[in-house]
Amino acid sequence: MSKPTVSAHRGAILHFLRDPGDGTDARAYEYWLDGLLLIEDGCVAACGPAGDLLPTLGPDVTVTAHPDALLLPGFVDTHLHYPQTDVIASSGRQLLDWLNDYVFPAERRFADAAHAAEVAEFFLDELLRNGTTTALVFGTVHKASVDVFFEAARARRLRMIAGKVLMDRHCPDFLRDTCESGERDSRALIERWHGSDRLHYAITPRFAPTSTPEQLASAGRLAREFPDVFIHSHVAENRDEITWARELFPDARSYLDVYDRVGLLRDRAIYAHCIYLDDADRRRMAASGAAAAFSPTSNFFLGSGLFDLAATDACGMRYGLASDVGGGTSFSLLRTMDEAYKVAQLQGQRLSALRAFYLATLGGAKILGLDHRIGSFQPGHEADFIVLDLAATPLLERRCRLASTLPETLMALLTLGDDRAIRQTFILGRAMKPCSPR
Ligand code: GUN
Ligand code: ZN
Repeated sequence: MSKPTVSAHRGAILHFLRDPGDGTDARAYEYWLDGLLLIEDGCVAACGPAGDLLPTLGPDVTVTAHPDALLLPGFVDTHLHYPQTDVIASSGRQLLDWLNDYVFPAERRFADAAHAAEVAEFFLDELLRNGTTTALVFGTVHKASVDVFFEAARARRLRMIAGKVLMDRHCPDFLRDTCESGERDSRALIERWHGSDRLHYAITPRFAPTSTPEQLASAGRLAREFPDVFIHSHVAENRDEITWARELFPDARSYLDVYDRVGLLRDRAIYAHCIYLDDADRRRMAASGAAAAFSPTSNFFLGSGLFDLAATDACGMRYGLASDVGGGTSFSLLRTMDEAYKVAQLQGQRLSALRAFYLATLGGAKILGLDHRIGSFQPGHEADFIVLDLAATPLLERRCRLASTLPETLMALLTLGDDRAIRQTFILGRAMKPCSPR
């Protein structure tokens, strides 16, 4: 037996045990100003006050100090599209026109696996530069787009979830699959990738308007056959989209109900946006175990609307944070938290800084059903973590110096921070290559 690889990281450490709500629940998180994170063979061996843990270390353990920093579990992005990396900043249109004008032409290029592989590499490096260590990711309709994505994720040893888009109508011919080919390709991808290394598959109907009722039913059958596979789609994002969905499915009680009727609401089902749900829908989401991916930068950029945090909470429905690149305008979950805070403000609601960081870490892991592996520093969890630089910019350094409490520091980080505030990203305890500007 070879000796276990042990490493230790010393600095301010924060992780969550449960949802801190308005921030007054001090037992929802653990925070050590001088903490130690001990890692053995890629997993957390212990985490706590440095004063308690340092004396327990063997003489050969190197302790890395992280001054002016905050150590956190890696960020979890609950919805984005890797093929839309180059679509960011395509302006002037709302959802349906934006899809036709920008997204579909960009996704067409993924018929070329070499192009897909190049984008996948860039995309994953960009996630890591931004401190995101796990994400739920759309591919394109092309099966190979998912193969090359998983290959790139596996090479980086990442815990990633992805799926091939199902889309058999109301789209250009060059992006259309069929009910049969969509099911066949999804099944082959599940068998090849789901549960291999740290990878998971997501059954990915783009949204109800671009799948026939037959294709949605086939997606529901696959979901029943593979109960621990993810389900990933969009719902209730834009008013014209909703009108269209209701015309196409006149018998459904609501747009959400279209998915429910075919068995696509359950644990590990994630629906992006969920802006225009009613309370019956929200309660149904909560009861089924499905959750929302709240995508504020996208909802602002595409002029979609405001996600109602209070109504969602009142119905017991869960949600995580999502960048929704390329409708979203940043890979950074710090930028995403900042915009989420403003979505709450515009509706007279509150999002505490503690809760924003919870949503970006343990909260995201929970809605994905991965909180037994990632999202916190519980012993045995995988050591994917980030080092946030409290002095990344002169203004951030100045503001953090004035902050006298943890919530104030977190508020400064989410308001002023971006990729520059991610000093390092660790995957299974190993520092990823420093990210050089391209
Ligand atoms: N609804 C269906 N497809 C998409 C997409 O690619 N982006 C967003 N934001 N919404 C969608
Ligand atoms: Zn999306």
